Amino acid sequence: MRLSTVPVLVGLAGPAFASGVVVHQAGSLDSCPGYVASNVQDDGTKLTADLSLAGAACNAYGKDLTNLKLEVEYQTEDRLHVKIYDPEEQVYQIPESVFPRPSSDDVGAEESALAFEWTENPFSFKVVRKSTNETLFDTSAASLVFEDQYLRVRTSLPDSPHLYGLGEHTDPFQLNTTNYTRTLWNRDAYGVPGGTNLYGHHPIYFDHRGSSGTHGVFLLSSNGMDIKIDNTDGQFLEYNAIGGILDFYFIAGPSPKGVAVQYSDIVGKPAMQPYWGFGFHQCRYGYRDVYAVAEVVANYSQAGIPLEIMWTDIDYMELRRVFTLDPERFPLELVRELVTYLHEHQQHYVVMVDPATWWGDYEAYNEGIDRDIWSKLPNGSIYVGAVWPGPTVFPDWFHPSTQGYWNDQFLSFFDPDTGVDIDALWIDMNEPANFCSYPCADPDSFADESGNPPQPPPVRNNSGRPIPGFPANFQPPATTQRLLKRQSNDTSGAIGLPGRDLINPEYEIQNSAGSISNLTMPADVLNYDGTHQYDTHNLYGSMMSIASRQALLARKPERRPLVITRSTFAGAGAHVGKWLGDNLSTWHHYRNSISGILQFASIFQVPMVGADVCGFGGNTTETLCSRWAWLGAFYPFYRNHNGFDSIAQEFYLWPTVTEAAKNAIETRYRLLDYIYTHLHRQTKTGLPLLNPLFFQYPSDENTFPIDLQFFFGDSLLVSPVTEENSTDVSIYLPKDTFYDFFTHEKVEGTGAFVNLTDVAFTTIPLHIRAGSIIPLRAESANTTTELRKKDFVLVIAVNATNQASGSLYLDEGDALEQPATSEIEFCYDNGELRISGTFGYQTEGVIRNVTLSRILCSVFGRSFQPGIVGNEVSSTDIRCN
Ligand SMILES: *[C@@H]1O[C@H](CO)[C@@H](O)[C@H](O)[C@H]1NC(C)=O
Ligand SMILES: *[C@@H]1O[C@H](CO)[C@@H](O)[C@H](O)[C@H]1NC(C)=O
Ligand SMILES: *[C@@H]1O[C@H](CO)[C@@H](O)[C@H](O)[C@H]1NC(C)=O
Ligand SMILES: *[C@@H]1O[C@H](CO)[C@@H](O)[C@H](O)[C@H]1NC(C)=O
Ligand SMILES: *[C@@H]1O[C@H](CO)[C@@H](O)[C@H](O)[C@H]1NC(C)=O
Ligand SMILES: *[C@@H]1O[C@H](CO)[C@@H](O)[C@H](O)[C@H]1NC(C)=O
Ligand SMILES: *[C@@H]1O[C@H](CO)[C@@H](O)[C@H](O)[C@H]1NC(C)=O
Ligand SMILES: *[C@@H]1O[C@H](CO)[C@@H](O)[C@H](O)[C@H]1NC(C)=O
Ligand SMILES: *[C@@H]1O[C@H](CO)[C@@H](O)[C@H](O)[C@H]1NC(C)=O
Ligand SMILES: *[C@@H]1O[C@H](CO)[C@@H](O)[C@H](O)[C@H]1NC(C)=O
Repeated sequence: MRLSTVPVLVGLAGPAFASGVVVHQAGSLDSCPGYVASNVQDDGTKLTADLSLAGAACNAYGKDLTNLKLEVEYQTEDRLHVKIYDPEEQVYQIPESVFPRPSSDDVGAEESALAFEWTENPFSFKVVRKSTNETLFDTSAASLVFEDQYLRVRTSLPDSPHLYGLGEHTDPFQLNTTNYTRTLWNRDAYGVPGGTNLYGHHPIYFDHRGSSGTHGVFLLSSNGMDIKIDNTDGQFLEYNAIGGILDFYFIAGPSPKGVAVQYSDIVGKPAMQPYWGFGFHQCRYGYRDVYAVAEVVANYSQAGIPLEIMWTDIDYMELRRVFTLDPERFPLELVRELVTYLHEHQQHYVVMVDPATWWGDYEAYNEGIDRDIWSKLPNGSIYVGAVWPGPTVFPDWFHPSTQGYWNDQFLSFFDPDTGVDIDALWIDMNEPANFCSYPCADPDSFADESGNPPQPPPVRNNSGRPIPGFPANFQPPATTQRLLKRQSNDTSGAIGLPGRDLINPEYEIQNSAGSISNLTMPADVLNYDGTHQYDTHNLYGSMMSIASRQALLARKPERRPLVITRSTFAGAGAHVGKWLGDNLSTWHHYRNSISGILQFASIFQVPMVGADVCGFGGNTTETLCSRWAWLGAFYPFYRNHNGFDSIAQEFYLWPTVTEAAKNAIETRYRLLDYIYTHLHRQTKTGLPLLNPLFFQYPSDENTFPIDLQFFFGDSLLVSPVTEENSTDVSIYLPKDTFYDFFTHEKVEGTGAFVNLTDVAFTTIPLHIRAGSIIPLRAESANTTTELRKKDFVLVIAVNATNQASGSLYLDEGDALEQPATSEIEFCYDNGELRISGTFGYQTEGVIRNVTLSRILCSVFGRSFQPGIVGNEVSSTDIRCN
């Protein structure tokens, strides 16, 4: 989030600025000698070798390392680990505490789907898929460069490869392969511009080769890098990293979903989310006071649009300081009343917490001083940047006391009995963002003369404006005194390590924020464990995510934490969900949000993902917001969120949006158990909740570039209208049978684009893939609590052989450890429905100790009413056995 109305910040939100890319002398890189392999040891499960520089050092962007080690492990039948590192192990490696490595089954080379082939002089290696003899990765395309501040590995690729991943980005889901650079260096990226580095760091790509298979390549590195994909000298993909080691995981697939599953084995299975987290969320930056928030809650209720979770941005803070409440705008008593109101109505509350903490005399800062957890410069002084509250300090997540500090802040500020009893958490600005350009000589300039940040708008006169449903005492208290005293710098602490130029590495990655230290914490900031931001910058958001999840667990150990973060590193999905940051209210951003959700859910294993519905920056329109209310209903994380200086965009503000949102939420809620079942499956297996079309039809080349349609789960094809104000859309239907979700009309796909016309703004084209059984709630409800009481209907969409299958996962919805679950499989075959699985979770009023068929009838509610699609079978033909 960024405030563009405040004068000092205007420059930051402006148009793209020069990226400061330096043109390098090609000669120096061309003269890099590469390495020679020797002492190759191969015991069949593990291969090791020594690598030594093959000639005079080129020192292209630093110093070449003379000796390296190669380690190759056949970790599983589908996973090959190739690690090239310095024998002394001084070069930065991500600690296990931040990224636990997958365990190895040490399968033999014989059993592996992949073969590792190498050439000794000059050293290069190939990864080959044994079943086809296809070369998947081949480093002979350019000599290996391993310097203290620059590493290069180039692999040659077939012409026009189909590559996906390497995020976070807002480019097409299928990556451009001509003159294309993906820079990875997390940054605060207002307006999420295409072709630039954004908030997250996910160095994994899927290479899809149609019917011959899909594989994945993951470079486990947190260092800044440019990944160049071009075809100037044959098609290639080239890593240019400014540090770290070469720690590659090759995964064999061979199906796209197989690669997804195998990647989840490396980075960890995603965290399960509470059932209510899939309800509809409303947020904006600029709810000026608690009354405004309460009015929105009341307005949703009056409009009859189900609101599950209400959010508050930094507006609630006093002078934008974390762990404070504005005493005039958000007095504690009224915030507590708001939360009580929400809880009494089966609704939930979420607020934002940033890492940047005001550098001044107040409890959150002082407590951090006492525990010495603020990030420091190499000279031991606390680093001071500037974020929302003006001058700020930043937690060092590597410090052993930081977790305790964070827990204690949460336990006290979010105390259910005396504080703000949040149900979930939003963490932002954790790249970390810094408004103060490097070297940030004057963080105080981000505050006014009295040390305060730019003021939010004055509190409104609320007298005589009762809010429907809220108590009459919902009135503002008197003004209170503000805190101003400033603490001086702490001067204790460690001294930095000598060696590299952390501030001006010779190889400059194409960071859109300029130098790697700009608008974030400087690269020479020394973490508690002796590492520097230079190497760990891209871990900051994920480490905050992990610490925040732990802090929520410290508050309520029995409940599943729902945390939504902006910045992520590979593996973040095991801890948190993610929103796609500060998009704009444009049709372009509406469209490319699909690429974003597919990247995170299908490739990066962060399935709880969504973009800001109706757009964050700029002004939305009635037609855009109507379409987006529908598209957002198929984001796993469904939140309307808006910027400070944009027109209001709550769904009830326009008649068409109101109708669209009601329809969209009704459809989503009826499908909620289908969503929940697919998320649960991903948390157990890694099989994605969302699927790009080629995941379902890997041999159909037409599907490879499609990123304006997607599968929600395995069975629902979502095909939104994508052009401004249009009611037409051209959608691709693979060679398969589909049924219109709403009319059950049968549509035969022919592997061609089909034009749909007259698609009203209050609906979306949605198709069920033949062969699916979809459990639906018989009707929607005002909240997910009510929804859980509704009966089920099974929609059986038969295929050519008059068969269909599906599944349903049921549990209590919110507890971390579920005492009882049901995992049910449906199988329909020519008139007979078979329902099997486990039935441990008992829905309301369940009858115990009954026969299987009676359990089924109770699981599916008081009336069991299968709806048959595509074949006129009456419900009397359905037998439960
Ligand atoms: C792969 O190459 C090996 C060795 O040349 C050969 O024996 C095998 O038949 C080939 N497999 C395929 C699928 O072409
Ligand atoms: C890929 O990039 C090239 C060069 O920048 C550009 O000409 C081409 O239009 C891009 N292709 C796509 C599909 O965007
Ligand atoms: C490659 O892209 C860069 C940046 O987008 C551009 O400046 C350059 O001209 C392009 N080169 C070619 C050969 O198209
Ligand atoms: C939803 O309906 C239930 C049952 O009538 C009621 O208790 C609850 O307050 C309602 N919540 C909202 C947000 O309308
Ligand atoms: C705090 O330390 C920084 C970095 O050494 C220095 O630039 C700044 O002047 C110090 N501020 C105060 C108030 O001493
Ligand atoms: C930092 O970003 C600001 C704002 O975009 C820009 O003006 C400045 O040149 C950048 N500085 C560096 C060192 O990259
Ligand atoms: C949004 O609308 C408001 C109110 O009409 C206007 O003041 C503002 O300039 C608009 N913003 C943009 C980016 O068009
Ligand atoms: C879309 O409709 C809005 C509202 O009627 C109108 O202002 C806008 O110009 C239209 N856009 C296009 C591209 O026709
Ligand atoms: C669909 O519409 C597009 C654009 O209006 C047109 O070019 C195309 O021929 C149409 N396709 C079919 C199958 O009617
Ligand atoms: C029909 O669906 C069933 C169950 O999903 C599946 O096993 C079968 O292979 C499908 N048949 C065809 C022809 O797709």
